[in-house]
Amino acid sequence: MNTYKIAVVPGDGTGPEVVAEGMKVLNAAEAKFGFKLDTTTYDVGAGRYLATGEILPDSVLEEFRGHHAMFLGAIGDPRVTPGILEKGILLKMRFELDQYINLRPIRLYPGVETPLKGKGPADIDYCVVRENSGGLYTGMGGISRANSKDAVATQVMTYTYEQVERCIRYAFEYARKYGKKARGVGEKNTLALVGKSNVLTYMYQLWLRVFAEVGEEYPDVERQYFHVDATTLYMVSCPEMFDVIVTENMFGDIITDLAAITQGGLGVSSGGNINPNGVSMFEPIGGTAPMWTGKHAINPIAAIGAGAMMLEHLGEVQAARTIEKAIASVTPKMKSQLANEMGFTTEEVGDMIAAAVANS
Ligand code: IPM
Ligand code: MN
Repeated sequence: MNTYKIAVVPGDGTGPEVVAEGMKVLNAAEAKFGFKLDTTTYDVGAGRYLATGEILPDSVLEEFRGHHAMFLGAIGDPRVTPGILEKGILLKMRFELDQYINLRPIRLYPGVETPLKGKGPADIDYCVVRENSGGLYTGMGGISRANSKDAVATQVMTYTYEQVERCIRYAFEYARKYGKKARGVGEKNTLALVGKSNVLTYMYQLWLRVFAEVGEEYPDVERQYFHVDATTLYMVSCPEMFDVIVTENMFGDIITDLAAITQGGLGVSSGGNINPNGVSMFEPIGGTAPMWTGKHAINPIAAIGAGAMMLEHLGEVQAARTIEKAIASVTPKMKSQLANEMGFTTEEVGDMIAAAVANS
């Protein structure tokens, strides 16, 4: 039997509640498909920080390295100054574990309401591959004459050839394997680079160049290029034109939130921080939702979907597909994907999806 060591980080706010439902469904998949998840739960997040002052001890980071994957709930607390936990935990994990891909599938499940008029599940079905290790997030830059009217702040947009190359290569591989043709829902596999090559040097000199170079090796993947501003417009007006999108870190951060609302919002959006050769982390992207903590009202679908992504990544493809189908069988029964408006409790949604997996 395949056994996978999983580091579970429930985190803060509603994180533990959605992780519990994610685990419930993962356990149903274990029983059904005959693999084992050997989980270790870690106390990392605002709770630990407020109690002990510890953010992410190196010893914990070292332990993460010994796992096949990580499953995260959410991290944050209104009492903690913004930036401390984001940089000290989330970004630190991405950088230290070199999770250089942020994978964000954008899929509208059946019965889920989208703000895009006249669009349905067949139209909203693409994936964003966001570079997750470089760009403005690297932290280069600084402030001089702080707290004065002469203050000068810089934030350096930095990319190396290697960072761009490995991301673009991952995206081509992804498009070859999971593009619309590969999934049997389109005529071809397409990869669109999203940038701003008309203005930004790093886009023109690095991203566009590497995209063309690496693209030569993937004649089966059609290449497209869109500016990021135009992309936001297309994502709203004609999302069906997208298949796989690849973009740099900051643009990717922004467009994936726009994409998330088109797929029904934070209750359903899952993501993966991936190191194809190391330890990857899977998460619901919604955050800690403090006002719903402990109220049995939060939507666990994003966490359950993150669990499916994790299984896919581990190679348990059939189990991953089954969870996705189970989600799609439950979403039409829900009144809404918004917290407290689902028509079910958090636990009931988890129970229904786990049962659908067990009975598949
Ligand atoms: C995300 C988040 C993070 C980011 C924050 C919390 C650091 O917005 O995963 O998209 O900016 O990448
Ligand atoms: Mn974001």
